[in-house]
Amino acid sequence: MEQNLLPKHIGIIMDGNGRWAKLKGLSRTAGHKMGAKTFRKIVQYCNKLGIGYLTVYAFSTENWKRPQEEIRAIIELLREYLIDAPNHVDENVQTKFIGNLSCFDDDIQQMIADCEKTSEHFSGLHLNIAINYGGRDEIIQAVKSLYQDIQNHQVRYEDIDEKLFSDYLYTKNQPDIDLIIRPSGEYRLSNFLIWQSAYAEYVFMNNILWPDFNEKCLDRALEEYAKRNRRFGGI
Ligand code: IPE
Ligand code: IPE
Ligand code: MG
Repeated sequence: MEQNLLPKHIGIIMDGNGRWAKLKGLSRTAGHKMGAKTFRKIVQYCNKLGIGYLTVYAFSTENWKRPQEEIRAIIELLREYLIDAPNHVDENVQTKFIGNLSCFDDDIQQMIADCEKTSEHFSGLHLNIAINYGGRDEIIQAVKSLYQDIQNHQVRYEDIDEKLFSDYLYTKNQPDIDLIIRPSGEYRLSNFLIWQSAYAEYVFMNNILWPDFNEKCLDRALEEYAKRNRRFGGI
């Protein structure tokens, strides 16, 4: 596919792990484990395709409503991923974690900081992993820090515009989302990147659950995206 028809920034809502596990008679944890494998595969594929930015939704601010046991299992998968991260530095992926990270254990926060630091100058795919992320929560924290900067005379009220506001979001200096992909048959955003997706194209895939998502599914979403006529309000 021609490079100019590829999205600069893709967002993926990695949904359907629980249903996948249920269909197979497995525990929800087994579904999340398989989902984590799919995540690794799709990151590598996006990197190979030369996609600039990929943001994946791994855990939302609303997911704390789930049973303790499931939450613990997801956090354990995050820890395993972080422990393993130094083994894939050769992939050259620049990794960032977005969301309110302060609620995670100290060792996790430390490994996140290390992972971000190590990969900060890598030139491959820019990967954002959204954990304890909520679009509304992100906007509220942006408003709060902007307010503080105004109080401290670092920003003038008159200078507030969309660009300046965007610099207070986790995705500072990154392009807006071009394409949102959601497998599993749910047709909603579930509080994912609500500011950044204002003009995104949406590809909802109702015949696939995240653990079964593969390179071909991504190709299909990219083909669909390439056919869209993006007008951004113009004609
Ligand atoms: C997505 O899969 C993973 C997380 C939200 C952490 P789900 O766990 O939501 O899977 P379903 O929607 O119940 O099938
Ligand atoms: C969105 O999926 C969050 C993630 C994939 C991490 P959910 O499964 O939590 O969303 P809802 O509850 O179906 O809207
Ligand atoms: Mg779900």
